[in-house]
Amino acid sequence: MIIENEKDATTAVLSELARAKDPRFREIMSALVRHLHDFAREVKLTEEEFQAAVGYLVALGKHTNETHNEAVLMSGSLGFSTLICLINNGNNGQTETSQNLLGPFWRMHSPATANGGSIVRSPTPGPALFVNAAFKDGNGNPVVGAEVDVWQSSPEGYYENQDPVQADMNLRGKFTTDQNGHIDFRSVKPAGYPIPVDGPVGQLLRAQGRHNMRPAHLHVLAAKDGFKTLVSQVYVPDDPHIETDVQFGVTRHLIGHYVRHENEPAPAPDVEGPWYSLDYTFTMEPGRARLPRPPITDKARGDRQEIERLKATG
Ligand SMILES: [Fe+2]
Repeated sequence: MIIENEKDATTAVLSELARAKDPRFREIMSALVRHLHDFAREVKLTEEEFQAAVGYLVALGKHTNETHNEAVLMSGSLGFSTLICLINNGNNGQTETSQNLLGPFWRMHSPATANGGSIVRSPTPGPALFVNAAFKDGNGNPVVGAEVDVWQSSPEGYYENQDPVQADMNLRGKFTTDQNGHIDFRSVKPAGYPIPVDGPVGQLLRAQGRHNMRPAHLHVLAAKDGFKTLVSQVYVPDDPHIETDVQFGVTRHLIGHYVRHENEPAPAPDVEGPWYSLDYTFTMEPGRARLPRPPITDKARGDRQEIERLKATG
């Protein structure tokens, strides 16, 4: 059609989209075009602002490579990743869910570790943490024989892949749930950490006066045939950023009971000083066991990369 006015710009695109054979594609693209055009009308987007927005999209691509995905970081920083998670899990957002964000640090082939073992593979200063996790189905029955990957940052806030000081695969392990659907292991208390702010996400956070910290958490990925692969994180409640996670990953359901123990005998005789325990029960939903594509495949070399920490304003 020949466009006569601004309204026709939308109508013209939508009528061309009607040619698309795939109905789901047609539905998604038509809604996207409608919302995108209405968004520009609502804010009366100027030509300069439009050019800045295009430059921003280009920068997202330029800041993405094999080991870093700025687009995913942006999606998290806008709360979009959590929204997608919550509308697709927990009976499509009707009930609580153990599902959460995968994050950029899952690696395949974590070392198989027996229950009761330790994922501390090189000297890692910080308080000991003893984790007891249960995996249940929607009816409360144990999920037996699930393969469970766990991974976390060190008490200094670094994943081993970012930190040449740590041994390869430090603070990572692969467990199998026992007859009661349990795993348990020894670790150290994770710390919160900053997300990179040298790209467009940093620009966005600075413009909003936001900090760039994720509160401390333990990552879990559990797979078993007949269940949707569980991707989860259990957050540390006393972290100063628990209410303002830069990636909006914290849900009430996933705040864990990390209990501090002082002057109490620890489960291992070599523990000195205060230590922590975490008991958590994950619910696995029915579905397909499918592993995500690993965001990274290797460990960092050279120096530890210091990431700038932004302070929230206002
Ligand atoms: Fe993480």
